[in-house]
Amino acid sequence: MESTHLPQVAAILEGVRGRIDDGAGSDWRTGLPVLSGKLVTLRELRTSDAHPLFAMLTSEEVSRFISPPPSTVEGFERFIERSLDERSAGQCACFAVTLQGFDTAIGVFQVRETEPRFGTAEWGFAIGSPFWGTGVFVEAAELVLQFAFDILGVHRLEARAAVSNGRGNGALVKIGAVQEGVLRKSFLRNGRYLDQILYAIVEDDWRASREAPRLVHRHVH
Ligand SMILES: CC(C)(COP(=O)(O)OP(=O)(O)OC[C@H]1O[C@@H](n2cnc3c(N)ncnc32)[C@H](O)[C@@H]1OP(=O)(O)O)[C@@H](O)C(=O)NCCC(=O)NCCS
Repeated sequence: MESTHLPQVAAILEGVRGRIDDGAGSDWRTGLPVLSGKLVTLRELRTSDAHPLFAMLTSEEVSRFISPPPSTVEGFERFIERSLDERSAGQCACFAVTLQGFDTAIGVFQVRETEPRFGTAEWGFAIGSPFWGTGVFVEAAELVLQFAFDILGVHRLEARAAVSNGRGNGALVKIGAVQEGVLRKSFLRNGRYLDQILYAIVEDDWRASREAPRLVHRHVH
């Protein structure tokens, strides 16, 4: 992360110091911890999330730039089952995003190892469009970053966003992800190969951004 981003990121994340309830240190492979913020709670997926996730994530605006989500509720049930298997195998952690005080899933965050034992990992996320621009993304992302760096032991977390995915790119930049390059024609979607931007957040930068001084906002009258 360029140093000029640090105060900005720290300001955005101000107050987003989440709580990770890891069941007194139990292994995440036996069950994901609950990640609690002010707005959202992230928890393990369960079969009953299939219906709300189907409703939230299959719209054209949510799915147009990402790998196609399952097209049926049963497809989401299988996705959830696979996610639980991959979590048990220690390969992937997939969280349901819920609003504080409600248990309905409105989105997902996934962190997948790309190197054994999560030295490097890739994450992806999708949130139902009624909740875009509400702060849900930033808080959920910060909780997942905390989980990835503190619990999984990730040192480099990558993401890919189609160049044409304005919100996806805007969201990643906003939380301090650094653009590292363009992966030309790397993503097949609707019969066309799209360019993607490769982003990464490295552990040292993330820790430094949390320690950077806060921005002071002055109003000039
Ligand atoms: C990606 C996603 C989770 C982000 O959540 P969100 O609530 O939309 O994110 P936010 O509103 O907090 O941040 C998006 C930022 O992008 C900006 N943005 C919107 N359109 C943009 C565009 N065309 N170009 C650049 N930035 C854009 C927004 O203004 C916002 O920044 P701001 O808060 O400084 O104004 C959500 O949009 C989503 O689920 N999209 C569909 C799935 C997806 O694309 N996943 C990501 C794959 S990389």
